[in-house]
Amino acid sequence: CGIVGYIGDKEALPILIDGLKRLEYRGYDSAGVAILGDDLHVVKTAGRIKDLEEKLKGTKLIGHLGIAHTRWATHGIPNDINAHPHYSESKNIVVIHNGIIENYLELKKMLMKEGKTFRTETDTEVIAYLIEEFYEGDLLKAVQKTVSMLEGSYALAILSKEEKDHFVAVRKDSPLIGGIGKGENFVASDIPAVLPYTKDVIIFENGDIVDVFKNKMVIYDKNLNVIERPIHKIDWDISDAQKGGFKHFMLKEILEEPDVIVEALRGRIKNGEIEIPELDFDKNYFKNINQVYFVACGTAYHAGLVGKYLVEKYLNIPAQAEVASEFRYRNPVIDERTLVFVVSQSGETADTLAALRLAKEKKAKTIGIVNVVGSSVAREVDKVVYIHAGPEIAVASTKAYVAQVEVITLSILHLAKIIDKLNEANEKLFVEEFQKLEGFAREILENKEEIASFVSTTKNIEETFFIGRNLDYALSLEGALKLKEIAYVHAEGYPAGELKHGPLALITPNSLVIAIDTFTPLSDKTISNIKEVKARGGKVLAIAKKDNTRIKEVADSVFYIPNVLDDLTPIITVIPLQLFAYYMADARGLDIDKPRNLAKSVTVE
Ligand code: G6P
Repeated sequence: CGIVGYIGDKEALPILIDGLKRLEYRGYDSAGVAILGDDLHVVKTAGRIKDLEEKLKGTKLIGHLGIAHTRWATHGIPNDINAHPHYSESKNIVVIHNGIIENYLELKKMLMKEGKTFRTETDTEVIAYLIEEFYEGDLLKAVQKTVSMLEGSYALAILSKEEKDHFVAVRKDSPLIGGIGKGENFVASDIPAVLPYTKDVIIFENGDIVDVFKNKMVIYDKNLNVIERPIHKIDWDISDAQKGGFKHFMLKEILEEPDVIVEALRGRIKNGEIEIPELDFDKNYFKNINQVYFVACGTAYHAGLVGKYLVEKYLNIPAQAEVASEFRYRNPVIDERTLVFVVSQSGETADTLAALRLAKEKKAKTIGIVNVVGSSVAREVDKVVYIHAGPEIAVASTKAYVAQVEVITLSILHLAKIIDKLNEANEKLFVEEFQKLEGFAREILENKEEIASFVSTTKNIEETFFIGRNLDYALSLEGALKLKEIAYVHAEGYPAGELKHGPLALITPNSLVIAIDTFTPLSDKTISNIKEVKARGGKVLAIAKKDNTRIKEVADSVFYIPNVLDDLTPIITVIPLQLFAYYMADARGLDIDKPRNLAKSVTVE
């Protein structure tokens, strides 16, 4: 997840290690470094940077050119071998990589046919092998030919043992910057890595291929025409920089959601078809499935709740979502005809793991929807589908929810195809609509100040209700949870239709109700519920689709979202809810990234 490259007059190793430490906030599970001096040395390990430093003790890695990496696993579990750098068979080419190569299996098969043997389970190793194939004494050219064959996202730094005066870096859909020093130059995946050495930074763009020498940095396009990129003077300090210039990780992670949407989708729509290769079941396997469960905790449970609605609708199989701490202490009536989705960002939540083990004991089939590669849930489920949201640092989960819901939706549609329950026209519609989500998310984020200004009028509120129906109900639970977690405001998520069976008694002119009305088939019903609240003097903020004109007349304020397909609503409608909680907590001056009494990963019961 972190890349640092250096060339100059100084010893490279301490600069690279220092740079990696400055990128530690991005999260990682392994670390490694390659130094090119008289000789080439590669040292790497699973674990922390201090484990790498331990391994480096007593070795002499002398050289003025080097590349270093912290890895957040995407293909292959975190271990010493899968850690970067990776090198070609002859060890002439050394590569570090952030991102995902979608067509690596095809490339790997092709190279294996040519007799190559691979050492790792990573997608990165094929890059080193390909560059070596194309290498004819010119690293830059070999890299250019290689990247023209790669599909996916990549930030790369590459060196060749034969070429000691430069290294090459590439950027596509994964961040990479350059740092311009005096008699030295840097690349890194983020600005903090280079800030102690230079404030002059180039932000590379997609497709840039960069040749980095001690005294110059030449940027090329994909056809190796020289191009210019502006140099920015950075004026933030290091602590700001670690959050990418944002006040909190939570805000940074919310703002990453459009990219997260793209990453979760990557490789899962091919030639206009939805395809989750990890779920390679055949029709017979499914014939007997007679119920589906989603088990999880916290935000992941709310993502599962969305899954329940979609399973009923598209698979036509009875479905339930349940918190893992309840599921594990009942006698859930499940057997080999049950399919259990286990949803977990960390893959280490104790109750979730226990629920998974119980499901397996009862012979259910299990699918993990997981962010952390190689985590316990990922290892123990029958099939795992990674959400590829990248490391999430803030305790309150935001971008992981977006990716969980997206991947759950894709998985259900994929399963529906297997059992012939998704017709072509419907699939085509979904494919088109999935592709709009990134733009929709960006549009919402551009309007985030609207939420901030609404919050400024309600920041002293002590009690809120989030209401909605169907998928909007699942969202209302997540909106309420976010507000409780970080703003410490009592919040309840309620089915809009259930309001009159209790909570309406609590509605006074001091009440705030967030009404989520994005599920078109039930919009009229929700509008009636809003009227009930208004009749008792409550204040209503509605979240609705742009074409919902009626809602303006009933709610006090409306935050409009783009006209998203009903079944994909949760993926983007959660964004204003997350922003609402964020701004509320910020207005109250709270410790947003580390809320009191809560932990990111609850590994004890
Ligand atoms: C904790 C975190 C939540 C998270 C939940 C489940 O409560 O604070 O943000 O949703 O655990 O975590 P998991 O890693 O299993 O998704």
